[in-house]
Amino acid sequence: MITKNAEANLYQLVYISERYRADGDQVINDIKLQAESNNQKLNITGALLFNDRYFLQYIEGEFNAINSLYNTICNDPRHNNVRLLLRKEIAERDFSRWSLGVKKLLDTEENQDLLSLLSMLGQAKSVSESQLDWFKLALK
Ligand SMILES: Cc1cc2nc3c(=O)[nH]c(=O)nc-3n(C[C@H](O)[C@H](O)[C@H](O)COP(=O)(O)O)c2cc1C
Repeated sequence: MITKNAEANLYQLVYISERYRADGDQVINDIKLQAESNNQKLNITGALLFNDRYFLQYIEGEFNAINSLYNTICNDPRHNNVRLLLRKEIAERDFSRWSLGVKKLLDTEENQDLLSLLSMLGQAKSVSESQLDWFKLALK
């Protein structure tokens, strides 16, 4: 039987933040480059979903590592109104293949439900895990 080596002290954190409307794709490329090298060193994996208005990011890794990265991200001037949606201990990673997967949520017919959910999360005070699972499916 093959058993997976469970990682101890593994956490997942999800936040939503608002983009500056005038920002173009260069900002995304810059973030991707920074994240890929930093996250690999810190054994952090994750995914960043975005549209013109919001960022929604999953970060997973060791407790201190993700909290310290989240602090850095909160102070990044390339977005604002950063709000923590979820932080929980996990048994295994959802995004183990990516230092940071990046995906644009395009304004297509099939994405309308996710886009509505994203703008609802942008306003909501709390969020359920099942709502977040929809984004996980879209990102994986
Ligand atoms: C939406 C958003 C997501 C980010 N995600 C990451 C990330 O996953 N990893 C990372 O190292 N930096 C991320 N950053 C950048 C950090 O805020 C910070 O600029 C960077 O970690 C500094 O890296 P450096 O010390 O190598 O210059 C993100 C920034 C924004 C605005």
